Amino acid sequence: MDKLTIRDVDASGKRVFMRVDFNVPLQDGKVTDDSRIRAAVPTIRALLAQGARLVLASHLGRPDGKVQDGLRLRPVAERLSQLLRMSVPCTGDALGIGTEDAIRRLRPGEALLLENLRFHAEEEANDPAFAKALASYGDIYVNDAFGTAHRAHASTVGITKFLPAYAGLLMEAEIKALSNLLEDPARPFFAVIGGAKVSGKIAVLEHLMDRVDGFIIGGGMANTFLLAQGKSVGKSLAEPDRVEEARRILAAADGKGVRIVLPVDVIVAKEVTQGTEYKTLSAEKIPASWHIVDVGRQTLALMEEALEPARTVFWNGPLGVFEIPSFAHGTNAIARYLADRADAGTTVVVGGGDSVAAVTQQGLAGRMTHISTGGGASLEFLEGRELPGIAVLLDRPPVDEGVAPVGAQAGR
Ligand code: 3PG
Repeated sequence: MDKLTIRDVDASGKRVFMRVDFNVPLQDGKVTDDSRIRAAVPTIRALLAQGARLVLASHLGRPDGKVQDGLRLRPVAERLSQLLRMSVPCTGDALGIGTEDAIRRLRPGEALLLENLRFHAEEEANDPAFAKALASYGDIYVNDAFGTAHRAHASTVGITKFLPAYAGLLMEAEIKALSNLLEDPARPFFAVIGGAKVSGKIAVLEHLMDRVDGFIIGGGMANTFLLAQGKSVGKSLAEPDRVEEARRILAAADGKGVRIVLPVDVIVAKEVTQGTEYKTLSAEKIPASWHIVDVGRQTLALMEEALEPARTVFWNGPLGVFEIPSFAHGTNAIARYLADRADAGTTVVVGGGDSVAAVTQQGLAGRMTHISTGGGASLEFLEGRELPGIAVLLDRPPVDEGVAPVGAQAGR
């Protein structure tokens, strides 16, 4: 890891501005999936144990610069308080005298959470004055919000002009797990890529092409590949304007000896709704009035056979219309299979909302090697792009120059 982390700094007595990604689903004022909150707890605990005075900051949803009561962070602060077994109050606004006062009164080992940063349009605009105001709350800056590292916002990028910037432990773990996939994966390495649209996955398929031994392709995006193979997909979701790109990817894989597994049988439905009529068909020719909604059993067997020798697997995106229970079978089955592979020693990294949901809903998260908290961020990372929120963190000086890292303590 070439970035400095909280291991390289002594936070005792310091005010730490810590960016977290607490963009979590809420229902009726309660957090329905607290994975992202839990994932930040080790960094929060480490800093509080050192005696930091901790100012936590996050966005929630996309309020577009306006206050929206349904996107207040109070339920998140309540969940965090339960997890930490201490009170973490939430301010009424990210800015203002009341907030400044609450921060001034923080004692070592105490934390508060700022109200949703995106209630201010200046956050997403990466406004320098807003970034400076946020920076005034801290002596140092820690970024643990890997899920937001692909956004160049005031709290992820602008603020680092004013404060020394360190990676949190979650950020460090994400960078290590994802870098390993690009730089040094144990082979054979397979990527299971699903999800609705191929357009959002072209770049990752292209970047991984030289690194993987095979791609397993499912979900709506597989339909565009079926079109590229000259098959008909009926009323299924597909992107005819991307067929050429899909053809190019198939040809590139063929040229490089990269195996591509596409659906050979599929579940088709009359409508994309729960309770509709559905059946299994060969993927060769789908009648005009049917929608492909999941992979079939033969396809799952083929996918599992391909993955059997894999020593590294990255999975992003569901294999079917996962949000409708009747069509979640393929996605849930591959989640279970990958958990078994991970138990057998394969490195399995999962990223992306629906794939992570399939894993966590089935209680499989603890069995995977790494569950990324970033959907868009993990994809952009694997596209080989430099994420702005990571680029601005302090670089670790080369060891052989004998330079002690900024803020480093002897023996740490
Ligand atoms: C996410 O959920 O992917 C991150 O929190 C980023 O959210 P955004 O796409 O609204 O910027």
